[in-house]
Amino acid sequence: MSKQFDVLVIGAGPGGYIAAIRAAQLGFSVACCEFSAYDDPAGEPRLGGTCLNAGCIPLKALVASSEAYEKAVLHLPEHGITATGISIDVAKMQKRKEAIVTKMTSGVKFLFRKNKITFLKGRGSFAGKTDAGYRIIISGQDGDEEVLSQKVIIATGSKARHIPNVQVDNVTICDNEGALKFTEAPKKLGVIGAGVIGLEVGSVWRRLGAEITVLEVMPSFLGAADESISREASKLFLKQGLNIKLGVRIGQAKLTKDGVSIAYTDDQGSEHTLECDKLIVSVGRTPNTEKLNLEAVGLQTDERGFIPVNDHCATAAPGVYAIGDVVRGPMLAHKAEDEGVMVAELLAGQKPHLDYNSMPWVIYTTPEIAWVGKTEQQLRSEGRDYKTGQFPFAANGRALGLGDADGFIKMLADAKTDEILGVHIIGASASDLIAEAALAMEFHASSEDVARTCHPHPSLSEVMREAALAIEKRALNM
Ligand code: FAD
Ligand code: NAI
Repeated sequence: MSKQFDVLVIGAGPGGYIAAIRAAQLGFSVACCEFSAYDDPAGEPRLGGTCLNAGCIPLKALVASSEAYEKAVLHLPEHGITATGISIDVAKMQKRKEAIVTKMTSGVKFLFRKNKITFLKGRGSFAGKTDAGYRIIISGQDGDEEVLSQKVIIATGSKARHIPNVQVDNVTICDNEGALKFTEAPKKLGVIGAGVIGLEVGSVWRRLGAEITVLEVMPSFLGAADESISREASKLFLKQGLNIKLGVRIGQAKLTKDGVSIAYTDDQGSEHTLECDKLIVSVGRTPNTEKLNLEAVGLQTDERGFIPVNDHCATAAPGVYAIGDVVRGPMLAHKAEDEGVMVAELLAGQKPHLDYNSMPWVIYTTPEIAWVGKTEQQLRSEGRDYKTGQFPFAANGRALGLGDADGFIKMLADAKTDEILGVHIIGASASDLIAEAALAMEFHASSEDVARTCHPHPSLSEVMREAALAIEKRALNM
């Protein structure tokens, strides 16, 4: 007889494993299937998805190592510290990253055991529906097994998008998989796509000495960010030596004796060739929907491969939900997690709701970039009346003490009601500072609410308060 569950989750990335845990907390019998391209030390598929295996976590480990190296080389002398013979052992840096990944992915396995979630090792696909629930085939190393589940949550995530004429081998021409595994810093690194991965991964290898050229098809830089943040980032990254070419068209990439050559046409129509040791392709991601056999339950993807869902992540098939990178919205781990929690709570009869407008974005460059809510250009195009308050880190004592005083925080609030409409940060610890703004927006706070809240001194968070005060032109330290 087939095993039967209340809830079956397909995919154990941050969307899937969090959905499984929340559903188990709410008393459902839950299974989660995962085939994973990676094996754990026990030879089983590693849990945690892109985020833990080839995304957020390994990349941030490399960001931290490369930042520590750059600080030691460039900034210790400012503190009066003399250190000679500073070098980086890239193999050791990679080992540290792998140890963090193993710890985190094993942690998810532990959480599955703790919450009594059945881990089905294999690829899940639909086979139809019976009165006892949806029929799902789990194809694992030992063959196929059929299980039944009343409700199904699809959380199969995404993979790197590739482009014609640029053949990814993940040795010389790499997507996120290979780019996180270099055994030494390339001397010359080419990056196709000035998006989040291109900037974060490019910055890692730049800090370790690589000369970086980024080739971006769009005529503007960081189009999704507030325009003043994009301008400041462009200025700071240029100073750091990041060479970003906008408005290019990519031609043929060819492997050479020393690496790779890539042909491109610049924004004036002139043709060029970039020679580099390694090339990273970071031009977005596509949802994983192939082999799910969605047709068996009457579902199909949209023209871009995403599974269509409503505001509560319900698909057109009753009892089948889809969350995370496989559906519309930003491809972010915290978005996937929150959708997973929302669906589990819906299944338990609760009335959860997600406000996508108060989901923060972070780009882990130096300095970090983070935002939540609307940009100034969005507010302008909506014809909304708004007020602006901006405050620089350079006027904050803690930022100066840390030696991290680049950038600013900008707050946007409704001209009449004073409700905060957006907060945009470029500066140290933006990834942590933005959480206060997200909380404020979730509670529909006004800029005055933030301005009247006592913030610790000296701290970077005072810049947030000063930006809120600046909305009424009453910043205190400027
Ligand atoms: P995934 O994490 O992709 O997980 C899906 C899982 O489903 C995978 O393990 C896959 O093996 C499995 N699967 C697929 N098909 C099947 C099937 N048929 N049966 C069983 N299992 C299946 N986001 C952030 O918020 N912050 C960051 O700092 C950040 N950094 C990133 C850095 C990089 C280099 C990359 C590539 C991404 C980064 N992201 C970041 C994005 C983040 O990783 C994704 O948004 C997030 O992982 C999506 O979660 P998910 O659960 O939807 O899918
Ligand atoms: P992206 O969508 O952020 O950026 C892709 C860039 O490539 C864009 O600027 C686009 O205009 C450009 N591009 C597209 N086609 C091109 C072409 N043919 N030639 C040149 N440029 C081209 O995608 P990216 O960087 O691959 O990241 C994928 C997703 O992963 C992101 O959307 C993000 O959601 C997630 N991510 C999140 C992180 C974070 O939250 N800190 C970190 C890394 C990834």
